Amino acid sequence: MKPMPRKNSAYYQRLSRLGMALGLAFSTPAAAGPSALPACGTPGRPACPLQRWMRTEIAAPFAKKDAARLADGFERLAELNPDPKKWPKWSQFARDGARAAREHRAAAVIIACAHCHSTYRSDYNREFRRRALR
Ligand code: HEC
Repeated sequence: MKPMPRKNSAYYQRLSRLGMALGLAFSTPAAAGPSALPACGTPGRPACPLQRWMRTEIAAPFAKKDAARLADGFERLAELNPDPKKWPKWSQFARDGARAAREHRAAAVIIACAHCHSTYRSDYNREFRRRALR
């Protein structure tokens, strides 16, 4: 077997340039890590794990006014907090949403969506977007 090319070798630089040309945001295979998922959430790529989940488990029951399913989705979302120590309000917003859904308070539901999206969405997408859900 041939030895693996060094990370900063011309081989990897070519690979990395090719990846960028294809719209893949990777630097080197080592940086991506063995468990990293393929690129997602950009045009032509599949939805990212939480993005897909959010559409089916939160946005869909919300659109159908299925309060019970929406409340269950919010409870699960509270547990999907990617960093509870650093992001304590994530679970709080999700539980606010669950309570609001059960009490049929539509405006409060929308506020819960907005609170979490404005507080955490861009950080989530930067730090965790490609991570599989637990
Ligand atoms: C506790 C946090 C939290 C709450 C509450 C929350 N979201 Fe989200 N939502 C996110 C995060 C984080 C993402 C980004 C996931 C991604 O794009 O990979 C997201 C993404 C989405 C998406 C995917 C958009 C796309 O790119 O397709 C939809 C739709 C969505 N949320 C709808 C809602 C609705 C509707 C509510 C309220 C009924 C809600 N969310 C409440 C955190 C939350």
